[in-house]
Amino acid sequence: MKATAVAPANIAFIKYWGKKDENLRLPENGSISMNLSNLHTTTAVEFSQYFTADSVEINKNKGEERRVINFINKIRKLAKISYKVKVISQNNFPTASGLASSASGFAALTLAATAAAGLHLSEKELSILARVGSGSACRSIPDGFVEWIEGNSNETSYAISLYTADYWDIVDIVVIVSEDEKDVSSTHGHEIATTSPFFQTRIAKIKEKIKKLKNFIKEKNFQKFGELIEAEALELHTIMLTSTPSLIYWHPATIKIMKEVKKLRQKDLPVYFTIDAGPHLHLICQKENTDKIAIKLKQFREINKIIVNYAAVGARLI
Ligand code: PMV
Repeated sequence: MKATAVAPANIAFIKYWGKKDENLRLPENGSISMNLSNLHTTTAVEFSQYFTADSVEINKNKGEERRVINFINKIRKLAKISYKVKVISQNNFPTASGLASSASGFAALTLAATAAAGLHLSEKELSILARVGSGSACRSIPDGFVEWIEGNSNETSYAISLYTADYWDIVDIVVIVSEDEKDVSSTHGHEIATTSPFFQTRIAKIKEKIKKLKNFIKEKNFQKFGELIEAEALELHTIMLTSTPSLIYWHPATIKIMKEVKKLRQKDLPVYFTIDAGPHLHLICQKENTDKIAIKLKQFREINKIIVNYAAVGARLI
């Protein structure tokens, strides 16, 4: 009983931050994302009556075993099996640095483990299960441009594809400014989000924001889309900065690149940034401007690496 799956990371244009149910990982708000073509996790899962213990290997290390095994236990229960498991997972990018490794990781694990256990789940059921593993993982199951419908119960909170990957050729240039693991996990960040005095203001306006962004994507209005996602990223980080205790994910290089993005716009190069729970930036641009922007980034010694991504399909068995 063995299966292997590959799943993309995703970049959120409207962010998920804060949970209204801790165990089920029900979000305080809906979110919108795009799957990324060059950041992915490949996971092989095998259940066997001959294994004497569970084993988990992530990027050649024994890591996050408890969280993975808790998740595997849910799948064993669903499939009514008790075999021990072997999980081998590999990211093609740095783990736990704010590059959404838990999204691609749990999406790949969900698909590989359910297939290995002999379960045949619909996309919606897979998305629900992935969400329980790690919230944003539910958005790495469907294709292309994705909406996570907030919902208010286990069955009503899942992600759907708004458009396939070939709908719009926008690019996400991931700018990696540090290879360090981040010091505060997003799991903890979600827990303290509501301590920010600005959190309720954000929630009061978020449905309207989601509606606007969906319209800009529908119209392929890149400027309006870019302005909205950059403001959204700054709003998310305002919540983080003003939580108790405060969360500061940015490095000096993060701010330097933010300022450079604004400069590039003044020079008529349309590019916008968004940032998740880490120091790295995602520069969103139109395909025809990718090389021009990549050349401008070469002057920054602080940048370790850039990774160019297009929109991608969701999780797949291989
Ligand atoms: O799924 P988590 O717990 O890794 O949370 C993701 C949080 C953000 O990346 C900051 C926002 C998002 O919607 O992806």
